[in-house]
Amino acid sequence: MSDFVKIINVSEESYDTKTFEFRWDEKASPGQFIMTWVPGMEEVPMSLSRTNRIKSITVKAIGPDTKRLHELGIGDSMRIRGPYGKGFDIRKDRKTLIIGGGVGTAAVLPAIKETGADTIIGARTSDDVIMDDIASKYVKNLWISTDDGSRGFHGNAVQLMREKASSGEYDTIMACGPEIMLYDLHKACVEMDIDCQLSLERHMKCGAGICGCCVMDDQRVCRDGPVFTRDQISVMEDFGASKRDECGRAVRFR
Ligand SMILES: Cc1cc2nc3c(=O)[nH]c(=O)nc-3n(C[C@H](O)[C@H](O)[C@H](O)COP(=O)(O)OP(=O)(O)OC[C@H]3O[C@@H](n4cnc5c(N)ncnc54)[C@H](O)[C@@H]3O)c2cc1C
Ligand code: FES
Repeated sequence: MSDFVKIINVSEESYDTKTFEFRWDEKASPGQFIMTWVPGMEEVPMSLSRTNRIKSITVKAIGPDTKRLHELGIGDSMRIRGPYGKGFDIRKDRKTLIIGGGVGTAAVLPAIKETGADTIIGARTSDDVIMDDIASKYVKNLWISTDDGSRGFHGNAVQLMREKASSGEYDTIMACGPEIMLYDLHKACVEMDIDCQLSLERHMKCGAGICGCCVMDDQRVCRDGPVFTRDQISVMEDFGASKRDECGRAVRFR
């Protein structure tokens, strides 16, 4: 079933990323996503960057569909369905470090708000850092990393995580970001023996576990994930290695 929702606010997070807010009564939890459509585009998955009654999606314009979404303004309608997937397992008794890489920061924002956990936001340059202003209202320790050193730690988010987590302070890490970052992060978590929950991305059509186009090994990312545990990811041969495009062709990362 799908719903039409009206956009009630649009904010610019950076030169290529916008947040669209809408009122929607469905219950949703941090890490879940919706399928989004307006005329003139293919339906695409988007994480919820806000999960209370007022919800939002945060869209990075990279291709035709996300550019079409960027044309929307206050008062325009979108068709959405969901929320889908398994989100983050939030436990108050575990000391958590949250990591958002690029637009993946939007997917971890609801978990940041709910936990107030220490957070790293990683980006390529200072112009690509998003939502640090919102996160800083909820967390005591917010660290920024940029690949080019134009803001905060000079290096990537996983290098910074290795530094911050070296004292053994954290029981678990929650993260969303590009797969190359998640691959290195998973490796670091195994080496440092820290639990992790990582939100993965694969091409999605139905979003609801039916079509099989988002399968990674024997897991459907839309239904069994998108958030997977360290042990689940450890046995995925596709993780960090290959994904399928819209035609089902295997595309290798490396
Ligand atoms: C669970 C999930 C949550 C996501 N959350 C966000 C988010 O919060 N913000 C955001 O900006 N992006 C998010 N994405 C990615 C977003 O769906 C793609 O960037 C978007 O579909 C690209 O479409 P395009 O036509 O603009 O670009 P294209 O040029 O068509 O594609 C660019 C990239 O996006 C991938 N892509 C295209 N269509 C899909 C699809 N139907 N499903 C998955 N990947 C696709 C392509 O494989 C390619 O790697 C999420 C993806 C998934 C799977
Ligand atoms: S998108 Fe159809 S099974 Fe996941």
